[in-house]
Amino acid sequence: MDFNLKNNYYAVTGAGNGIGRAVSILLVKNGAKVIGIDKDKNSLFNLKKKLQKNFIIKNLDCTKSKDIKEELDDIKKIDGLVNCAGIVPQGNIMDCSEEEWAETLNTNLTSIFLITKFFMKKFINQKRSSIVNISSVASSIKGVKRRFAYSSSKAGIIGLTKSIAVDYAKAGIRCNAICPGTVDTPSWRKRVISSNNPIQSKKDFNSRQIIGRVAKPEEISDLIIFLLSSRSSFVTGSVYNIDGGMSL
Ligand SMILES: NC(=O)c1ccc[n+]([C@@H]2O[C@H](COP(=O)([O-])OP(=O)(O)OC[C@H]3O[C@@H](n4cnc5c(N)ncnc54)[C@H](O)[C@@H]3O)[C@@H](O)[C@H]2O)c1
Repeated sequence: MDFNLKNNYYAVTGAGNGIGRAVSILLVKNGAKVIGIDKDKNSLFNLKKKLQKNFIIKNLDCTKSKDIKEELDDIKKIDGLVNCAGIVPQGNIMDCSEEEWAETLNTNLTSIFLITKFFMKKFINQKRSSIVNISSVASSIKGVKRRFAYSSSKAGIIGLTKSIAVDYAKAGIRCNAICPGTVDTPSWRKRVISSNNPIQSKKDFNSRQIIGRVAKPEEISDLIIFLLSSRSSFVTGSVYNIDGGMSL
């Protein structure tokens, strides 16, 4: 399928690793340029070696509005945005400190507000754009054990997505969310390794999806670039489960 992305510019937060990295690679493969935003400088420079001039590095923390304004000010053309940066704290409400709650909401939800608001003026001027937010099955879709702060932040993303979709549909701006199940990324591998029993943990993660395995990041990026492209021109305010049946 041709996504007609040639010479379009897309900003991707969390571009250095996991799902953000996979979507950056797929965008460049489809002829687009990527503005790769991440606070992890090394991962950005590693990806730059692969994607070269098609990958513009923006090393910043998405929770800091001052850094967003300073570092992204020189961007002239922008056709869409993927909000992917996120963290996955574990535990129930009693395990969650006020600091962890604030950090999770800040990183997973407030960062999307800040980055999207920053690009909004440009999107409005262009009268055309697509925003894709990465939520999760652990959200308002499904209660998942020991994901209290995480699920709260990811449910917020669904509300934010629908709100932007209705406010800006007539302005030519589409906004959608995707809700992955478990995906094999660096942060997931860390969760497995740091568990009490990594072999059992991996088995448990695989069996959460009814198809019996976790996803590769590349299985998630296909849906993201469909939603960025004009192939999905009639889709806005939608929430897509991409979860191997985890939500069933
Ligand atoms: N891996 C999964 O199983 C899974 C499932 C559902 C949803 N998700 C969501 O997908 C997104 C990507 O997850 P992943 O597994 O690829 O994670 P990852 O940790 O492998 O990559 C996330 C990237 O975001 C960056 N990042 C984190 N906080 C940042 C900040 N404040 N500013 C700038 N960059 C920041 C990290 O440096 C990292 O490069 C997250 O929002 C996550 O919640 C992941």
